[in-house]
Amino acid sequence: MLKPSMEKALNKQMNDEFRSAYLYLSMAAFFEGQNLTGFASWMHLQSKEEVAHGMKFYNFIHERGGKVALETMEAPPKTWKSPLAVFEATLKHEQKVTAGIHKLVELADKNQDHPSHAFLQWFVTEQVEEESSVDDIIQKLKIGGTSGAALLMMDRALGARAPESE
Ligand code: FEO
Repeated sequence: MLKPSMEKALNKQMNDEFRSAYLYLSMAAFFEGQNLTGFASWMHLQSKEEVAHGMKFYNFIHERGGKVALETMEAPPKTWKSPLAVFEATLKHEQKVTAGIHKLVELADKNQDHPSHAFLQWFVTEQVEEESSVDDIIQKLKIGGTSGAALLMMDRALGARAPESE
């Protein structure tokens, strides 16, 4: 059985994952509006992954006898200055998500909640991978600049992203 403080914290993270999905969907829509279909496709996949992350928390809370509590969500931003600005915002967002996961691990340990600790390790690893892949895109966008050719090459590369296997 989950302790109330763990139930609350897991619910918070679940809602943050769904918020991430909403943010990345808005970024996908932004790219679609710019005819950058590869960038849009990358963000669509990212959004879907965040829904899957949220559902991992949803299922775990249930499995542990807790109650899932969905919250209202603020509208995400709709526009950004440039593709680089989108990915910089993504990295900042992911760093916040990472901090949330780490705080959750600390809370699980404080409560000697070993199942939560084990459950959260997947997310600890996932966040390393997420931050690294977003940072890689940022560095490439910086190298290529905003010239049409570099942007279109990046669009093609990002459009080749395949869905993550579970
Ligand atoms: Fe589920 Fe990108 O954190």
